[in-house]
Amino acid sequence: MKYQALTSFLCSFFLVILVDGKTQDLQQRPPSKRTKENFDWDWQFHKGNIAMKLTVKAGGQGGLTDANVKVVTAKDTTIDYTDVKSATVFHPGDWQQVNVPHDWVVENSFVKDNSMGSQPAVSGYLPTGVGFYRKEFEIPEGDKGKKISIEFDGIFRNSTVWVNGHLLGNHQSGYTPSNYDLTDVLRYGQEGKNAILVKVDASGYEGWWYEGGGIYRHVWLVKTNRLHVDRFGTYVTTPSVSPEIATVIIKTTLKNEYKTVKKISLVSKIVSNKGDVLDTDTSLQTIEPFSAVEIAQTGVIQKPLLWSPETPNLYKLQTAVMDDGNIADSYETTFGVRTIDINKNGVFLNGKLYPVKGTCNHQDFAGIGIALPDKINWYKLKLLKEVGSNAYRCSHHPPTPELLDMCDSMGLLVLDENRFLSASEEGIRDLTSMLYRDRNHPSIFMWSMENEEWIQGTVMGARILETLVATAHKTDPSRKVTAAMNHARNDGGYSDVLDVVGYNYGDKQSAYVKDKEKYPERVMFCTESTSFISTRGEYANNWEKTYVSNLSKWEPGWGSFPGEDWADIVKYPYLGGTFVWTGFDYRGEPTPYQWPSVTSHFGFMDICGFPKDGYYAYKAAWTNIPLVHIFPHWNWPGKEGDSIQVHCYTNCEEVELFLNGKSIGKQKAVPCTKLIWGLTYKPGKLEARGYNKGKIVTRDMVETTTAPAQVSLNSDCNKLKADGCDVAVIRVAIKDASGRVVPTANDLVKFSIEGPGKIIGTGNGNPSSHEPDKAMRRMAFNGYCLVLVQTERQAGTIKLKASAEKLNGAELIIKTE
Ligand code: GAL
Repeated sequence: MKYQALTSFLCSFFLVILVDGKTQDLQQRPPSKRTKENFDWDWQFHKGNIAMKLTVKAGGQGGLTDANVKVVTAKDTTIDYTDVKSATVFHPGDWQQVNVPHDWVVENSFVKDNSMGSQPAVSGYLPTGVGFYRKEFEIPEGDKGKKISIEFDGIFRNSTVWVNGHLLGNHQSGYTPSNYDLTDVLRYGQEGKNAILVKVDASGYEGWWYEGGGIYRHVWLVKTNRLHVDRFGTYVTTPSVSPEIATVIIKTTLKNEYKTVKKISLVSKIVSNKGDVLDTDTSLQTIEPFSAVEIAQTGVIQKPLLWSPETPNLYKLQTAVMDDGNIADSYETTFGVRTIDINKNGVFLNGKLYPVKGTCNHQDFAGIGIALPDKINWYKLKLLKEVGSNAYRCSHHPPTPELLDMCDSMGLLVLDENRFLSASEEGIRDLTSMLYRDRNHPSIFMWSMENEEWIQGTVMGARILETLVATAHKTDPSRKVTAAMNHARNDGGYSDVLDVVGYNYGDKQSAYVKDKEKYPERVMFCTESTSFISTRGEYANNWEKTYVSNLSKWEPGWGSFPGEDWADIVKYPYLGGTFVWTGFDYRGEPTPYQWPSVTSHFGFMDICGFPKDGYYAYKAAWTNIPLVHIFPHWNWPGKEGDSIQVHCYTNCEEVELFLNGKSIGKQKAVPCTKLIWGLTYKPGKLEARGYNKGKIVTRDMVETTTAPAQVSLNSDCNKLKADGCDVAVIRVAIKDASGRVVPTANDLVKFSIEGPGKIIGTGNGNPSSHEPDKAMRRMAFNGYCLVLVQTERQAGTIKLKASAEKLNGAELIIKTE
């Protein structure tokens, strides 16, 4: 300790000497390694617009854009934020302390206003508006001479950034990252404090779903030497792969931001997941001042461990940039070795036909809107893997980068999608930032240029698409390119410019089958299917409550029963696979309803991740685990003696149904097809037995319960990291005295929490619920609700209590360390 304190004192002592002795030439400082600091913490947030002072002189904007803003602490001070003069002072009382990811829109109350969003109801009836984020921070003297930039993984949307009174720029897209070079406008050490102000104008929209508002992804402060790997500057491909050897092609873009020529050596090491160096390539290069070069290198991996969703083997490329024998920059890139061939016969992964079992998803979850902590992204992917899914479509925009890291390491193929069909300068910039940022992920098997644009199938649409496809081919020749088209768009040459023709709902009028006959050489893929709507635990359409039955098929016209789409993929493997619309319900797009419905009904899981009945259709189709799932529930008081239908999803050969021990009949199952029995309702025990080769291999049971008697809490984990980020997902169930979940219970559950944790949101999957998500209480919906508990940056024991009137409460302990 003492030694460290002494050395750091000496270091700062010498730094001061350097500064005072005027010896510092910023261009000549010794090299230092790159750091990527998390910049998520301690922002101040102001909801609502603020009149912004402008300036015609560099760094002169002042007020909130700078650190020496006048602070008014008096409690009763009222600031008129529409008035430029008074708006330039900082009144802490008007600003809330937040960490990002943050979505302020999800905190708003629902408003019945169909003019919000791009179409009535699609934004989920949550008002958006403008918000400001401000943060003061210090940069140590020792960082002088480095290149320092700020990287926003995603801000929804139209964000403008000022630092220390300087306007740095504006970024419209809510789905692509933005980056600003701060080097020249920062204050270092004794120069003083820094302030960053970010204006976020979420009043516009980019899609037809809930899009939220705020700095909803991570923020990073990146510090490098002036000689460094460029942003997204490595590109690793493995064009030739055999069981014996894989060739690795490495392209590294280096930037020299010194005013002198640099003679460098670039050392690239391929490293196994055990840390063994498998191959090294070294290149010598001269780089002119203020210029960039791309250096190509090669390496090999003997007996490569291939990447696939079942074997998500990863390698690392370690890049070192040496300047005069010193490491100027070091950079790490994760990659995988695998081959993907999408051809007229289907998708082939590592040489084998690999039907893609995918779901489409938006970035949204119960309790938190679009501001998903990493853990929640992981949790959603884990649930998708459990249903047997092997792929994820980022509908309809590039995802947060951590999600792609997780798909690499957990094993899910990804269809990464561009938001707009636009060949404008901005459109191309958004497309290329997705391509550069994401191209090293082994999980990404194809790029999608757009989804269901109105000018699909037109000559103009084809021209724009051609430009996008050419851009993708140039940036990443290693992957094929598709566009997600509703049915097929054979007019205007639109489909001809694609490598792979994407079919959304191509099952309608058998469009994809007819096209295959017409265009036998066409490479096809089923980019979207199903759109089955249902409300978890509901078995009748209810216009008043805006619920949709799980038993029948209704709207939309293009929808099908869960699992039917998979029957086509099995029958026509050339379709490559499918992406079910959707894995999870999401806010907005509450088809077929509008108000009071605020959440979609498309997911085979609700917005909390509770499975609906359709989930089991996919689990049956996508896994080999013998499965029977019968529905509806068996709590129908007053319906004794009525006829009732029992539906069943299964992957067994036969299923026999029993009511109170008496056989109702055995049926042969047809893959991807529901079984249905008609019977007379009698309370009790309904049991389904699944048979393979005449033997019982699995069972499912629903039972008539008694009244709600207790609350139960079930956390996905009992230990969390005390890092202020980690989250426990806690399923809350209302049970009867015998511990059976009451499938119709809607008791109000109240939460309290002790210890170093906080409730960051609640949900229940009810698409018409207007309860606040950020609350200490939630009504159960059809037996369940959800609560999310996030840690503080302090170790300890979190105690969560749940209570409900007349029911026994529950308690849960989570350790954080
Ligand atoms: C598709 C569209 C999706 C969603 C879905 C609802 O056509 O691509 O974004 O709107 O319909 O069924």
